[in-house]
Amino acid sequence: MVRINPVIPKNFQDRVIAPSLLAADFSCIRDETSRAIRAGADWMHLDVMDGHFVENISFGPAVVQAVHESNDIFLDVHLMISRPDHYLDAFIAAGSDLITVHVESDHDVAETLKRIREAGCQAGLALNPATPIDAVEPFLGDIDLLLCMTVVPGFGGQAFMPEVLEKITAATQLRKSRGLQYHIEVDGGIDAATAARCYTAGANVMVAGSSTFRAPDMATAIRNIRNA
Ligand code: DX5
Ligand code: ZN
Repeated sequence: MVRINPVIPKNFQDRVIAPSLLAADFSCIRDETSRAIRAGADWMHLDVMDGHFVENISFGPAVVQAVHESNDIFLDVHLMISRPDHYLDAFIAAGSDLITVHVESDHDVAETLKRIREAGCQAGLALNPATPIDAVEPFLGDIDLLLCMTVVPGFGGQAFMPEVLEKITAATQLRKSRGLQYHIEVDGGIDAATAARCYTAGANVMVAGSSTFRAPDMATAIRNIRNA
């Protein structure tokens, strides 16, 4: 079944705030998702970790499906797994709206991106802080979103790596010079202060775990990131 989801903005200036479920209370995921929606979240960011590509295990397609069935929010699924190609069908069936795979994973990147789009989902490509922009260049015409990791993936609550800003600027320039169309997302250590630096570099989608779910007031935290 091909689904057309209108929730992805057309304009690369439009700011999107995506709280990461990884920082939520896992004993009540439905309530935590509702809390994020009430607080003004645009998307929900779901971090899938396999204990192999990264040194942590989070959750799989069953949890993605549970979140999908409990509300209507756009699901931004970030696969930090070694073989995204082996699990793609399960994450598509679970109700993902956008599926982001890593360029460093062991798969045919072009083929995986093609499969994601053919299923009616948006396709995202992620790169780790140490990976140069050249690694994703061949695929930039085939994605809806480029995720520049601003921490080494695996855990929430890490410090933002400012050295990634240069790569975000390069991704913004490449998009313009080549007339390409992709959102630029950042993930890791994002709060109002680091979001401001990422917006300046050209990113428009902010993933934020600790600074939203663990804030004294989530709505204020999201508003501050949006208006940074
Ligand atoms: C890191 C994950 C992030 C993480 C961000 O491996 O991809 O999405 O949840 O957490 P914070 O915002 O706490 O750095
Ligand atoms: Zn993530």
